[in-house]
Amino acid sequence: MILVAGSANLDFVVRAHHIPAPGETVLGQDFNIYPGGKGANQAVACAKAGGAPTRMLLAVGQDAHAGPLLDSLRTAKVALNTVLVPDQPTGCAFICVADSAENAITVAPGANLCLQSQHLPELEGVSHLLMQLEIPIPTVTAYALAAREKGVKVVLNAAPAQPLPIELLEAVDILIVNEGELATLVPHAGAVLVNLAQIAVPCVVVTLGQRGCLARLGNNFLTQASFDITAVDTTGAGDTFCGVLVAALDQGDTIPSAIRQASAAAALACTRAGAQSSIPAANDILALTATQTDSSPEKTRALLSWCGLA
Ligand code: RIB
Repeated sequence: MILVAGSANLDFVVRAHHIPAPGETVLGQDFNIYPGGKGANQAVACAKAGGAPTRMLLAVGQDAHAGPLLDSLRTAKVALNTVLVPDQPTGCAFICVADSAENAITVAPGANLCLQSQHLPELEGVSHLLMQLEIPIPTVTAYALAAREKGVKVVLNAAPAQPLPIELLEAVDILIVNEGELATLVPHAGAVLVNLAQIAVPCVVVTLGQRGCLARLGNNFLTQASFDITAVDTTGAGDTFCGVLVAALDQGDTIPSAIRQASAAAALACTRAGAQSSIPAANDILALTATQTDSSPEKTRALLSWCGLA
């Protein structure tokens, strides 16, 4: 069983030609509301795309925004530990998705910031605890230490980017970050490989967008080129990656196999709009990994060179 402890946000999304620069107003296109939040997205990815028994600890307000978030998690068969916060609004995110499929996100965390150490449920039967950084860092740290104490593997997606206390990093078994997040965690940021070497976590996975990803397992490096797709909206792709990776590990897969499935799932998530609405079914991931067995030599070379491995 995977326990995801983290945020749930209702996403208010507008598409536009480009993401506005500071002080600029852009006339957008269509507007939609989707269930989101890094924690909830990852829980849905674990359960729906990864097929793993999943429970989520989350906090919501007593308002109309909470219902769609709880419904989406239940539909994905995520069991819930819900903290109701009467005097705070449910978390919301305001997202602009550009024609390039990139996004800019502003989160109003609301009730998410009320998750505290005493809310952690019993860890009996939990194999992995998966967390992100849209709940307070002291809470994340307390949960990680409690999980480490019980022999539960701690997986941290250090997003959004922020510096972390050393006692938290020391309790993490697997760290998942993008390049920007990785740079925030090291005192002397440089190339990906240099930054990776400065992180004292046994397994670190760095996602590199369209290039693919790089993982360090102890002293060994592993790369996975991205799958070829046409992206329409990258929102939730990183969350899908994290959820599917942990679901595969929960089911006994090796790290290379888990990373390959997670990469395929993240690619598929970019082909659909929204966060939880874009998370693929397990069969779609199987189909993509069966059809795209090898990446092109040019793409592999470019990935190795970007990582400083060639
Ligand atoms: O990672 C995407 C998510 O970030 C969105 O769903 C939004 O809610 C923010 O948490």
